[in-house]
Amino acid sequence: MQLYLAFMSKQEKYATIHYHKYLEIDQLLSLQKNRSAALGENAHDETLFIIMHQVYELWFKQIMTELDSVTVLFREERVNADNMNTVLLRLKRISTIISLMVEQIHVMETLTPLDFLDFRDYLFPASGFQSMQFRMIESTLGLREEDRMTYHGKSYKIVFTEEQQARLDAIEQGGSLFELVEKWLERTPFLQFEGFDFLSSYKSAVDRMLAKEQGNITGSEYLSDKMKALRLKMLGDSNSYFKHVLSREEHERMMANGECRLSYRATIAALLINLYRDKPILNIPFNLLTELMNIDELLTTWRYRHAQMVMRMIGNKIGTGGSSGHDYLAATAEKHKIFKDLHNISSLLIPRSELPALPAAVERELGFWYGRS
Ligand code: HEM
Repeated sequence: MQLYLAFMSKQEKYATIHYHKYLEIDQLLSLQKNRSAALGENAHDETLFIIMHQVYELWFKQIMTELDSVTVLFREERVNADNMNTVLLRLKRISTIISLMVEQIHVMETLTPLDFLDFRDYLFPASGFQSMQFRMIESTLGLREEDRMTYHGKSYKIVFTEEQQARLDAIEQGGSLFELVEKWLERTPFLQFEGFDFLSSYKSAVDRMLAKEQGNITGSEYLSDKMKALRLKMLGDSNSYFKHVLSREEHERMMANGECRLSYRATIAALLINLYRDKPILNIPFNLLTELMNIDELLTTWRYRHAQMVMRMIGNKIGTGGSSGHDYLAATAEKHKIFKDLHNISSLLIPRSELPALPAAVERELGFWYGRS
């Protein structure tokens, strides 16, 4: 009997299946129900409007599939190094999908404002504002409730059912990708080696670099006094960028004021990874930070493009969800950035020529030394 059952399941496993059945095409194609046709006169372009949103929701589902798997891999106390490449490939997939989402706005723009008016009233008060998956993506990446635009002074969650709100709360409390990456950066073991302390070497390099630039300006035969004063002022301004990495207290003050979010230790680790990214062991961490910035940047681009498209479609009318429409959406593009601190690492970089040389033992630690004595 057991042998028979084993045979049956094997049979089922390798039974042929038709394309239509495998992809549930019949069900999929029955899901575009024009409300204009059901309630009044069929508006031709409503099918496009529905399909566009459904396609986006499918992409959101794929993004969440990748994000869930990445956060599981990152949640381990010690992230298994063997998983890092998988994490990177999945993040790359997310950014590729968001690029496509940005491109797809062109298709939405083939709907003209006049044709949109043929069915806009039928969808009221439905709005992308109620997309649960979009909110899940934002929160899983690390957008916090306190960093969001409010909705008529109320939480963005009020448009969701209690069950959905509980799911969003669980995501917010469960540790976002931002927080997991922050912890992973804080654990970076490369900040201190015997005979090499990254932070103090970096501080000396910054001081040397600024003193050299100051000397170049004041000693220049070609600059007028006015130009010298201007350049020295600019140098003073760039000096201020370094203040918060050179002092933990300053960094913590900025964090408390909401001027930055990433912890001091994680910021220093991200800086080290960026400066020494060519060392083999730091290649993957560098690419990972880059991919997170790509995702953030592409999501911001999508927000801008969506806001622009909305402006073209409804001018300055309010949205079906009740927001101010274009103005609200354009504001989210700036306010809802998540990995801004990683972008800001660029203001802390110093030229390769000024980079503190690593002791030979550290070079060896950061390289692929298998087989070398
Ligand atoms: C004719 C096309 C579209 C128009 C006129 C439009 C309009 C708007 C408006 C006015 C809002 C602000 C909330 C409100 O008051 O309703 C909004 C939000 C949103 N829309 Fe669209 N939209 C369009 C297409 C799309 C498409 C194809 C998607 C893809 C899923 C989408 C996703 C979203 C999302 C996720 C939000 C929330 C954004 C946030 O709060 O940060 N929209 N939309």
